[in-house]
Amino acid sequence: MAEVRLNYKKPTLHGNITVPGDKSISHRSIMFGSIAEGRTTVSGFLLGDDCLSTIDCFRKLGVEIELDGTNVEINSNGMGNWKEPIDVLYTGNSGTTTRLMLGLLAGSKIHSILNGDASIGKRPMKRVITPLREMGAQITGRMDGQYTPLAIKGSPLSAIEYTMPVASAQVKSAILLAGLQAEGNTIIHEKDVSRDHTERMLRQFGAEVIVEDGTVSYKGGQTLQATHVDVPGDISSAAFFLVAGAMAEDSEITLHNVGLNPTRTGIIDVLTAMGANMEIIVDNEEAAEPTGTIMIRTSDLEGVQINGDLIPRLIDEIPIIALLATKANGTTVIRDAAELKVKETDRITAVVDELKKLGANIEATDDGMIIHGGSELQGASLKTYGDHRIGMMGAIASLVSNGAVELDDPDCIAVSYPTFFEDIQKIIK
Ligand code: S3P
Repeated sequence: MAEVRLNYKKPTLHGNITVPGDKSISHRSIMFGSIAEGRTTVSGFLLGDDCLSTIDCFRKLGVEIELDGTNVEINSNGMGNWKEPIDVLYTGNSGTTTRLMLGLLAGSKIHSILNGDASIGKRPMKRVITPLREMGAQITGRMDGQYTPLAIKGSPLSAIEYTMPVASAQVKSAILLAGLQAEGNTIIHEKDVSRDHTERMLRQFGAEVIVEDGTVSYKGGQTLQATHVDVPGDISSAAFFLVAGAMAEDSEITLHNVGLNPTRTGIIDVLTAMGANMEIIVDNEEAAEPTGTIMIRTSDLEGVQINGDLIPRLIDEIPIIALLATKANGTTVIRDAAELKVKETDRITAVVDELKKLGANIEATDDGMIIHGGSELQGASLKTYGDHRIGMMGAIASLVSNGAVELDDPDCIAVSYPTFFEDIQKIIK
């Protein structure tokens, strides 16, 4: 699809959606299955471009990975037996692949080169390289390792105690994965807790991890046991339909098998605080990753304040929350979210510029944005900046805008939600 013109004419939205697998957990399932010796199976895997990049990288390390729909089978001889890749490990658009692999490769026995697309080439890698170098990693790259391409010469590592300067699960996970091969106890302190999928999956694969008051610690040298991973639906993908259901007239949407890990449910807290007409049934609280069903109906919404430790729990949802806030009564203020500037694109600038084109009353700040609600949205030609979440924000806006919305690059949405447009069609009445 080159460009797309969406002219839905304010439909009502009704029906059921089972959102595709969680991106963060899908990546990790491949990584953990490649670390552990033996056969790991995965169900509900996300067939998004980012997760396919992770598969491609581990195949280049000699791990056997077979895909059958959303089921994956991984057969690995264990991380100590990864092969030196004869080609660059290409991570595409995926920050998670790039940063977590740095942690894994740092303590390996092999030499490798990581590179990604133009967006990855602009994303900060120093935040990962700095703690890894403290552990003894030998990593070189453009601007002293600030940017890809990066070359990693696997070397012996020693565990560190590290206080996270920014809330980032990618940085935390890179250190934890390097810590697997390090001598001693890896200890990480987080001021604001970021998503904890790595900690949960380490336990699922048999490792002992201690989490207490924002500190994660565990002992290096633990061996992971191959297992089965059931990937829940991605709450970050569900978020687009939660917002659509709340904004569109006379609507009711039910989302099934949504991951409800508390480190990811900031969007639910925001919808609740805004007064959304929503019901949640938790299906599976005891699982490694809890899941549930969420029903959302057309809602009368109030503006809210979003900041502090809530930010890491909804960082990827801010574009779609900003759209929702244009339809609320009153003002929504988003603060403490400067991290948005270093996502797939600068999401403060992208969200503000594109929502303005639709007629929103929104302004950028240094660390977030201020949205004055109650706007009637018009049609416009929008840029995605090659960023899946900006593309989906524009597409959802088209469901509640008076005219057609054009998107320059809808294909970028396949990074996290390849069936997004089919799912929209399912609920339009
Ligand atoms: C992710 C962590 C977050 C998030 C990204 C996925 C992960 O990034 O924005 O989409 O899977 O660990 P940061 O760690 O940079 O905050």
